[in-house]
Amino acid sequence: MILDDADKQMLAGKFGNAAKKSMEILVALGKIYWAERLAPVTSVQVAGVSYDNLGDAGLEYLQELAKDGKVRVLTTLNPAGMDLENYRALGIGEEFAQKQAKVIGAFSKMGIIPSCTCTPYFIGNKPKGGEHIAWSESSAVCYANSVLGARTNREGGPSALAAAICGKTPLYGMHLEENRQAKVMVKVEGEISGTEMFGALGKAVGERIGNKIPLITGIKSASVEELKSLCASIATYGGTSMFHMHGVTPNKTEVPKQEIAIGKKDIDAALSSMNDEGQPDLVALGCPHLSMQEVEKIALMLKGKKVKIETWLCISRQVKEEAQKRGLAQEIEKSGAKFAADTCMVVAPIKGRFECVASDSAKSCYYCRAKNKFRTKVGSIEKCIGCAISGKWD
Ligand code: F3S
Repeated sequence: MILDDADKQMLAGKFGNAAKKSMEILVALGKIYWAERLAPVTSVQVAGVSYDNLGDAGLEYLQELAKDGKVRVLTTLNPAGMDLENYRALGIGEEFAQKQAKVIGAFSKMGIIPSCTCTPYFIGNKPKGGEHIAWSESSAVCYANSVLGARTNREGGPSALAAAICGKTPLYGMHLEENRQAKVMVKVEGEISGTEMFGALGKAVGERIGNKIPLITGIKSASVEELKSLCASIATYGGTSMFHMHGVTPNKTEVPKQEIAIGKKDIDAALSSMNDEGQPDLVALGCPHLSMQEVEKIALMLKGKKVKIETWLCISRQVKEEAQKRGLAQEIEKSGAKFAADTCMVVAPIKGRFECVASDSAKSCYYCRAKNKFRTKVGSIEKCIGCAISGKWD
């Protein structure tokens, strides 16, 4: 692997201990994947922020790096385990809150923006087509590669952090044009609309093709919100870091020989498989974090209403503050629904507090079942808010 002078100096410890350790990680990764060299990155997004996942060992690792580590490029954070300001309203205990604050403190000391969101592209971390970046949240990675046309592997938390501190990443995998070509054509038959349907599509496709990159055809248009839902579910259920959608996404690809069809019955089956028996005791929207358009829609639905079920709207702090400026957040909070800024229904430590969670998100369904052992309901945003108001799913 070719290293330039700055890389070699970092490796020798001339830029401090954090840069040395980080360069060691990048070089080791580069060797494993036969990278020719390191490429400069313009943006980093670091996952592994919730104290629930990091524990004390993770916190100590971050504090050690923060002694002399500073990031060299724009770097934002994935959601934390709690709303950093309003954690008490979400029932998060003081002990957890103190540990989580230390995690955020260590990241901030390194110059990372504590944005705590899985939709960095809504808050100013929005790379352009062709840029090399190092992101680690799987839905955001898929969005960056597929929708923005940027280039990133699905980094782990430590490798993303190392890329931020060194300003570089090993040039392999999704950074190279030859690895960004579609391997299977997915013909979607029938109309698909709404975040829940796009999430179900991602589940149906992901389960059929695994981590192969698909070229999806048959979809005339898709909103930003529908694409973020698809990105989250196709990465969760199949593992791909990218898809092409004919007429919608910007990347070029060869036309693959292998072909499969996904019809309405496949989407219906995917949706039905995510709906368990029973009534929800938590309605949680915003997986991935809500856009401003989704907040507008929810505010309209909740205007003058009261929720009967605990209702969380998972969102970045920046989009919440925008909603506050426009009076939408106040309207929503009057209904009794709560904002869960900086966090989400999956990374917050809520195992055992609820039994059945309703959402519009196939990704949320997967992790709420796997991590929190909740039963799940998945339907449209309208259906979820209707359930929050009436207290009943059906
Ligand atoms: Fe984001 Fe949490 Fe879903 S991090 S993608 S809201 S599981």
